[in-house]
Amino acid sequence: MAERVLLTPSLPLPTTRPSTTTMATISGTAAARMIPSATRATVSLSSSSRSFFSFSSSSSSVSSLQCLRSSPRISHLFLDQRRADVRVSSGRYGTASVTKALASDPDQLKSAREDIKELLRTKYCHPLMIRLGWHDAGTYNKNIEEWPQRGGANGSLRFEAELKHGANAGLVNALKLLQPIKDKYSGVTYADLFQLAGATAVEEAGGPKIPMKYGRVDVSGPEQCPEEGRLPDAGPPSPADHLRQVFYRMGLNDKEIVALSGAHTLGRSRPDRSGWGKPETKYTKDGPGAPGGQSWTAQWLKFDNSYFKDIKEKKDEDLLVLPTDAALFEDPSFKVYAEKYAEDQEAFFKDYAEAHAKLSNLGSKFDPPEGIVIDGSPNAEKFVAAKYSSGKRELSDAMRQKIRAEYEAVGGSPEKALKSNYFLNIIIVIAALAILTSLLGN
Ligand code: HEM
Repeated sequence: MAERVLLTPSLPLPTTRPSTTTMATISGTAAARMIPSATRATVSLSSSSRSFFSFSSSSSSVSSLQCLRSSPRISHLFLDQRRADVRVSSGRYGTASVTKALASDPDQLKSAREDIKELLRTKYCHPLMIRLGWHDAGTYNKNIEEWPQRGGANGSLRFEAELKHGANAGLVNALKLLQPIKDKYSGVTYADLFQLAGATAVEEAGGPKIPMKYGRVDVSGPEQCPEEGRLPDAGPPSPADHLRQVFYRMGLNDKEIVALSGAHTLGRSRPDRSGWGKPETKYTKDGPGAPGGQSWTAQWLKFDNSYFKDIKEKKDEDLLVLPTDAALFEDPSFKVYAEKYAEDQEAFFKDYAEAHAKLSNLGSKFDPPEGIVIDGSPNAEKFVAAKYSSGKRELSDAMRQKIRAEYEAVGGSPEKALKSNYFLNIIIVIAALAILTSLLGN
């Protein structure tokens, strides 16, 4: 017997109707899996409680940034995590009530991703977004168990306390670009938004698809930011040892250190921010985006393996090689991977995608605990119907949906062979026999 599911807000609704409401559709998540699509419910929530940044002037100085939290009276109602009571009534066993909390809304995540794509198309800020996601996640310390003290991808980088760390110079600009998207989608946490922006930037720049999950819970105040000094230096006395010290603390290994460093295939270093790089080169003097800085590669908005080729050759004065980049071809263990990635872009893409996804989850608290996948299962096998298509071409999403719909219309699925319709088969056999008999009779 089909279960009946009632979805009701567990918290009292505000007496006055909020001016802006956000429709938070619980779908595509663990909650949605519990709920048959016919009974999927929609909860109306206010977006008026979000944490947000207010920039007192157009200047990009960090001091102009104020992290505010509005309306403390109702903030408990509309924190970044929305709560809903899911009451499951099975008839036989009575009604069970489970409180289901979602850090981010799946539909809003998808819409936010489209807005991020538009932002990338107009601002060419792919590198900046990747660095933002990495710097939020890269503070993780695997030796600290408690959240959020352990650091990691928890949205703490939105607070001035952390933004003003030396390693984060310039990242306030990434926040300014993302804030309008955060304002539009209150059902997406900062921690998710930063990682969504980073992964989308890699993909949009031509890099591999990152098997991401979402549902990261945000820290709530600047007192939860990690102390300064958890991110790597570019020019320490012993670069390889330093990289190991910092990345091993995050629980990452040599292969992941080399693969992730490959993100420097995108972007530029600016002396006025990090102190590294030239003010401008022939590759950066005309932008796109704000001109200037020194890039690691000539085509610094294209995600490919040219970083490994270029830092190996070190032939072009206009291209940057940080001491920590050079270490990848000097240290014997790092070198194995760096050589491989310089030769084989496919190997780089595969390892990069896995390492990026792992980095993006470091230290995060997920709600629901298994996370929210907005593109199908991150580790799912390639769509099986593709095996039966004529060429080796990947099927487009639209084509996959069409094929799936056609299978489902006849009660099947592309993953499973159709069950034969015995009744129809018998009718066909009887009809064939009848025709045969009448032919023989004639
Ligand atoms: C291995 C240790 C690393 C060091 C020492 C390092 C250092 C730096 C430095 C000094 C800059 C220049 C910042 C500026 O002046 O604006 C930079 C930029 C950048 N880093 Fe790293 N980084 C490291 C690892 C990573 C990782 C793991 C990623 C991503 C997975 C990453 C992604 C980027 C990107 C995309 C930029 C360009 C930003 C832009 O153009 O605005 N880096 N990094």
